[in-house]
Amino acid sequence: MTEKISNNLNDLDYERLPTHIGIIMDGNGRWAKKRGLPRHFGHQEGMKKVVHIVEVCKELGIGNLTLYAFSTENWKRPSLEVDALMNLLVVFIRKELDRLNNNNVKIIILGDTSQLPDIPRNEVERATNLTSNNSGMILNIALNYGGRQEIVMAVKDIFTDVNKGIITIEEIDDKVILEYLYTKGQPDPDLIIRPSGELRLSNFLTYQSAYSELWFSDVLWPDFTGDDLYSAIIDYQKRNRRFGGI
Ligand code: IPE
Ligand code: IPE
Ligand code: MG
Repeated sequence: MTEKISNNLNDLDYERLPTHIGIIMDGNGRWAKKRGLPRHFGHQEGMKKVVHIVEVCKELGIGNLTLYAFSTENWKRPSLEVDALMNLLVVFIRKELDRLNNNNVKIIILGDTSQLPDIPRNEVERATNLTSNNSGMILNIALNYGGRQEIVMAVKDIFTDVNKGIITIEEIDDKVILEYLYTKGQPDPDLIIRPSGELRLSNFLTYQSAYSELWFSDVLWPDFTGDDLYSAIIDYQKRNRRFGGI
């Protein structure tokens, strides 16, 4: 946390911080390629940024942070890269879990963890169990996550509960659907940040992002700094969120 913050922090309104920030951590591969390195070096460097950005958000008092770590489509990558990503997840948890726990961070996994290899699956289970009673910031890690897969899951679960008589079709509304998503009980993301220059959501929080403010940057994730995060929040605070009103 020695990084120099160049933004004018007086521009930041601490009374109007986004409650929930989502970050699509993209650009690791291009970061490595620019340096003539194999892609996994980019992922390794990206992981270091996770630790830093979580701390910056925690210090700011952000209530919910969602980090997109691995999509349902990322299985299409070469198995060596998938293995490297899974391994980095394990390294991250083994190295950072105690500190996150001591900082009262609650870790929640968004996504289908049943499809993960044994070791990462056990480690994420350990992380969620250990931190389940923490009441500080919620850190959602979107892992084997896809917004469409999440909606399919919700539809199936709702259908099952209708069949069991737990809810009726008439009762199904927007609020009920939210309760069947991985983010149940959490506010929708106010701000979604995507570095790396890509202008799309890539299946991230598809249902929840209906009224999210989007912020894009050309910076590659391993180069993303606390200062970039402040820039995103300051821009967010200048926006007029109308939610369909006037
Ligand atoms: C994001 O970086 C990490 C994951 C998707 C897991 P990428 O690996 O997508 O990096 P680029 O987009 O190829 O640069
Ligand atoms: C989105 O990045 C997924 C994560 C950052 C984990 P991708 O690199 O997979 O997205 P596309 O393929 O550019 O849309
Ligand atoms: Mg990418």
